[in-house]
Amino acid sequence: MKFFVDTADIAEIKALAATGLLDGVTTNPSLIAKSGRRILEVIKEICAVVPGPVSAEVAATEYDQIMREADVLRRIAGNVAVKVPLTPDGLRACRTLSGQGTMVNVTLCFSAAQALLAAKAGATFISPFVGRLDDIGQDGMLLIADIVQIYRNYPVLKTEVLVASVRHPIHVIEAAKLGAHVATLPPAVLRSLYNHPLTDKGLATFLADWAKTGQQIVETGST
Ligand code: G3P
Repeated sequence: MKFFVDTADIAEIKALAATGLLDGVTTNPSLIAKSGRRILEVIKEICAVVPGPVSAEVAATEYDQIMREADVLRRIAGNVAVKVPLTPDGLRACRTLSGQGTMVNVTLCFSAAQALLAAKAGATFISPFVGRLDDIGQDGMLLIADIVQIYRNYPVLKTEVLVASVRHPIHVIEAAKLGAHVATLPPAVLRSLYNHPLTDKGLATFLADWAKTGQQIVETGST
């Protein structure tokens, strides 16, 4: 499973990229607003740090304007994935952009029918929002199961399931069990995947016992 980070905070992205476990980045208009920075500048910086796909979202809702904005965004760097909303105009733009060889992430997906349309439109990624479905009392993970099953039934569909609106590690594990291709995680959730109290406790014991030996692991001289 690929891990993307869902943020426009360049310091966070640099720190997470240094782990060697980061495969890409997703942003959205809310995350760009939170960064307080200009979209073109921040996406350019992110693309220079992370070689994998970097999703940059259009703000337009009408086809011609979506295409104009998409053209600006995809010219930032070769690893930009243009993010478009799951609307008729958004999917029309998806079809055109993917036909031109541009990666497209179709966002704001809340149903299997929408995901099927996005795949037929040639989306590189479909972004179902699991957390926002959970928030309204629907099971977001059932949507992931449905989409994965549908896409598997039609190998001609190459769209990757990018699980978005992830709130906690259980979302990540459940999505991985279902075979979703990608999860985009807020930085705190990505970091939390490392944690287990028994790891901390075990390490503390090993270090204390090691200190008692008075040893150091170093090359011994051969004189
Ligand atoms: O970037 C799209 C998605 O991950 C947003 O998540 O937490 O705002 O529902 P959230």
